[in-house]
Amino acid sequence: MKIFLDTANLESIKKFNDMGLLDGITTNPTLLSREQGDPAEAMREITKIIDGDVSLEVVSTEYSGMMEEGRNLRKYGENVVVKVPMTADGLRACKTLTSEDIPVNVTLVFSVNQALLAAKSGARYVSPFIGRLDDIGEDGMQLIEDIDEVFSNYDFETEILVASVRHPMHVIEAAKIGADVVTLPPAVLEKMLHHPLTDIGLANFLADWKKKSSS
Ligand code: E4P
Repeated sequence: MKIFLDTANLESIKKFNDMGLLDGITTNPTLLSREQGDPAEAMREITKIIDGDVSLEVVSTEYSGMMEEGRNLRKYGENVVVKVPMTADGLRACKTLTSEDIPVNVTLVFSVNQALLAAKSGARYVSPFIGRLDDIGEDGMQLIEDIDEVFSNYDFETEILVASVRHPMHVIEAAKIGADVVTLPPAVLEKMLHHPLTDIGLANFLADWKKKSSS
């Protein structure tokens, strides 16, 4: 399973990339708006730091605006994947961008039917938002299972990118299903690193070593 980081924070991107953990990045307008400085500069920088796919989202809601933005976003790097919303205009832009060899991530997916349509439009990724479904009392992970089952019946090349991940259990469940990609907020990836027994074990090793060397 590929791990993407769901952030526009350069410090976090560099930190986890230096550990060899990142296969790509996803951003969105909200994540970019949280960071200081020029968003265009941040997007350019991210595409340079990361070898893998970097999703950059359009903010236009109609086809021609999405096309113009998508083509411009792609100029930031060959690894840019244009993110479009799951709307009729978004799917039309997905089809045209894909035909121009610009890969597309269809975002804000909340149903199997939406995922199916995004795949038909040629999306490289579909992004079901599981945490936001959980938030309204629906089962986000069940959606991943259902999309996985439907995609496995056909030859779609579209990958399932599990988005809106809230905690490490989401990651384990997505991996058990065999989802292609999870995109993680830095805080979730940080939590995955740690276990209290690792900390206790390390403290004990060091204390024993100190005792020995001072005896
Ligand atoms: C995915 O690409 C989105 O950026 C993200 O996962 C949204 O997550 P949220 O529901 O935590 O905002």
